[in-house]
Amino acid sequence: MKIDGSVALVTGANRGLGQAYARELVSRGAARVYGAARDPAAVTEPRVTPIALDITDPERVARVAAQCSDVSLLVNNAGVLKYSTFINAPNLDAARLEMETNYFGTLSMCRAFAPVLAANGGGAIVNMLSITSFYTNPFNASYGASKAAAWSLTNGVRLELHHQGTLVVAVHAGFIDTDMAALVNAPKDSPESVAKQVFDAVEAGQVEVLADERTRTVKAQLSRDHELIYPPVQEFWDAAVAGTG
Ligand SMILES: NC(=O)c1ccc[n+]([C@@H]2O[C@H](COP(=O)([O-])OP(=O)(O)OC[C@H]3O[C@@H](n4cnc5c(N)ncnc54)[C@H](OP(=O)(O)O)[C@@H]3O)[C@@H](O)[C@H]2O)c1
Repeated sequence: MKIDGSVALVTGANRGLGQAYARELVSRGAARVYGAARDPAAVTEPRVTPIALDITDPERVARVAAQCSDVSLLVNNAGVLKYSTFINAPNLDAARLEMETNYFGTLSMCRAFAPVLAANGGGAIVNMLSITSFYTNPFNASYGASKAAAWSLTNGVRLELHHQGTLVVAVHAGFIDTDMAALVNAPKDSPESVAKQVFDAVEAGQVEVLADERTRTVKAQLSRDHELIYPPVQEFWDAAVAGTG
């Protein structure tokens, strides 16, 4: 689809990657960009229309879908990462919050906007996933589970919305230079680079974006994950547990 002249809605548009998505959409000539955020006053990007939205609140999601009935491009960017393990986390709070936001919140948005997109000619949905959709890392284990669920959701939504001509794009990335990865000392993509790749893919009708070399390598290794992906992850984790990492 063409971004020029389209009407887009970006969740989590107040900072990080969501802000870069909103800015890139404006620069590509989107006729209107709704910047959805829990605190709409924090959406400061010029020419972006702030909208109050917590994606875990289904009533609010439904109201926003009714209010923004001109949307043809939905960017499900909002997400949370609590850096929580499966076994030693003190309780299930982090796992539940990540699943509630990254999976159920994204699912709610897809369901609410599917008829809106159909009414506007099909359009597109972009779901912001992760390299952790592909494999588990104990450092962010429950986040990975939520992103794996969101990957499955994305593939299913693509199948279910094919008949109405909606392009559904899965975006997988390693670390991106935002607040979410602020504590990480590793190479990071810029949010601007991810945003450019994503909207190039939308305009080209591509269903998947693998935003960096590591993400492309991991996806290519999936059929041999227990030989190629998990052994170094195990080694790193064992060293961390032993206090030598
Ligand atoms: N940074 C990375 O390394 C990385 C890598 C791969 C994928 N991702 C994914 O990229 C997306 C954007 O992350 P980011 O790096 O920009 O992180 P970020 O800087 O932490 O921003 C997260 C955004 O999501 C919003 N959000 C969280 N829960 C929400 C909710 N219930 N309703 C509405 N908005 C909510 C936040 O709003 P508040 O300001 O109100 O908290 C914020 O705008 C996420 O889906 C993340 O999982 C990030």
